Formats: sequence, structure tokens, C-alpha cells
Amino acid sequence: MAASLIRLHFHDCFVQGCDASILLEKSDSIPESEQDAVQNAGSVRGYEVIEQAKSEVESICPGVVSCADILAVAARDASVAVSGPSWNVNLGRRDSTTANVAKAGTDLPSFRAGLDSLISLFDRKGLNARDMVALSGSHTIGQAQCVTFRDRIYNASSDIDSNFARTRQRGCPSTPGRGNANLAALDLVTPNQLDNNYFKNLIQKKGLLASDQILYSGQSTDSIVTEYSKSPSKFKSDFAAAMVKMGNIEPLTGSAGEIRRICKAVN
Ligand code: HEM
Repeated sequence: MAASLIRLHFHDCFVQGCDASILLEKSDSIPESEQDAVQNAGSVRGYEVIEQAKSEVESICPGVVSCADILAVAARDASVAVSGPSWNVNLGRRDSTTANVAKAGTDLPSFRAGLDSLISLFDRKGLNARDMVALSGSHTIGQAQCVTFRDRIYNASSDIDSNFARTRQRGCPSTPGRGNANLAALDLVTPNQLDNNYFKNLIQKKGLLASDQILYSGQSTDSIVTEYSKSPSKFKSDFAAAMVKMGNIEPLTGSAGEIRRICKAVN
């Protein structure tokens, strides 16, 4: 669950800020759920873990701790649980009363994006290229579905290590539509540790997603990838700082929004 919880916080913060909007399910007051956006549907996991944490917090301290704060704390604790860094989480976010599926579609990155568009997408959220590369280091844990990397492992012109491509083809059939949901570790070497191995993979052309490999493809971010591949401690401290920055995107404070009673619905 560690990977899924970190991703959940990311996909929350990039769509109208860190306001737990991603947790809202479709209902009379929420006509469209962000969970149905193409980047989230059938892919984002861990909703029930946050709901469970919320219900335990509510039972001892009702109406105080927002779902948005629980997402931020869970992401930090997830990092610690898989040998990643820790950081102090700023608290006080409130929860949205709205969700925006269209914004999820435009503001969450696609694995097909080029480097310039990834940089500008993160820039719009106040995160620079270095933050983007450090945060992408999250792909040192967790899994991706065959549909997200099929093109890369079967396309002869891909910038990919051929043995690595062959290994990945075993679990991901070439026929479009077949085995789309088959999962593969984003980092084959240490899939359950939040370490700097992701960056070592990129230098060996063993990034699983095209959007991973593009960070080391003869362009402006190569030097950052090289730096993190050599220095696990620099990666960890930059990752922690970038997670804090990401967790501060457009929070609802004061009397804006509400403290939800349950995370999947507005009060
Ligand atoms: C740079 C642009 C990014 C793109 C294009 C991207 C794309 C993806 C894709 C396609 C997957 C696989 C989803 C699936 O197949 O179901 C994935 C997984 C994941 N992403 Fe990203 N991602 C990006 C940045 C980030 C950032 C900034 C974070 C966290 C701060 C993050 C955290 C994760 C994690 C932890 C997983 C594994 C989830 C799991 O196993 O449940 N990603 N990402």
C-alpha cells in the first residue's frame, strides 16, 4: 500500500490543491468523481485505507482532522514504512466540497508526455524540474499496468535496454487489449524500498514508463538523474523537501471547505 498511498496524495494535490477531492465518490452533490478520470480509473488504489484511518481518528477526535491532512500524513508514513525519508507534515488543510474530473484529466501527467510538457505541468503547481525529478523517484516502489508500458517494450525504436524489454514482455502480451491490467514493478531491483535505484535504472535505460526514461534522454534533466543515482542521501533529502512542497499546493484554510465526517462524501 505504501506506493498507492504516496500516489493518492500526489493525485489529490495536483487537482484543485491538497483538498481530498480525489476521495469524493459520485453522488447527488458530486456529479462527477475524479476517480473516473483516465489517470485514476482502475489504477489509483488505497481509498479504503484512508477511509479506515479517518474513521479511527473520528472516533477519538471528531470533526477536527481533515481527510486532506490524513492523505498527507499517510504519504509520509508510507515513505518511512519502505525505508524512505521522513519529514514534518504541515497540518491544517480542510476538505473540498467539490471535485473536478475535467481538471484531473488535464492536470495529472500522462506516461506519454514529453519532457517539456512534464516540466511545465509541474511548474504550474509551483514545482520546478528538480522537484519533478525527485518526486518521480517515487517510481522506485509500486507497480504499473501493462497498458502503460506495452508500447515502450515492443517498439524497436524505444530508448530501452533490450534484455530489460524482453523480461518485461513476459508479463505483458503485445496484442493490444490483452493483459492490459497485468502489473509489473516500476523498479525491478528493489521494488519495495524507497531508494535511489530508480535513477540507476534510468541510466541503464531500464525505466519502465516512457515518462520515466524521458528524464534521462539526453535532455536538461540528465544531470539531476545522474546526481541522484550517485547520492542516495541527496535524493532522500530532496524527495522529502519536494513532498512538503507538493503537500502545500493550494490548501483550503480558514472557513473554506469543511472537515468531512467521512472521506468519500461531503457532509
Ligand atoms: C512525472 C510524471 C508522472 C507520470 C507520467 C506518472 C505516471 C504513472 C503511471 C502511468 C503509473 C502506473 C499506474 C498504473 O498502471 O496503474 C504510476 C504509478 C505510480 N506513481 Fe507516478 N507518474 C508521475 C509522477 C509521479 C509522482 C510525482 C509521484 C509521487 C509523488 C508518483 C507516484 C507513483 C507511485 C507511488 C506509483 C505506483 C502506484 C501503485 O503501485 O499503486 N508518480 N505513475
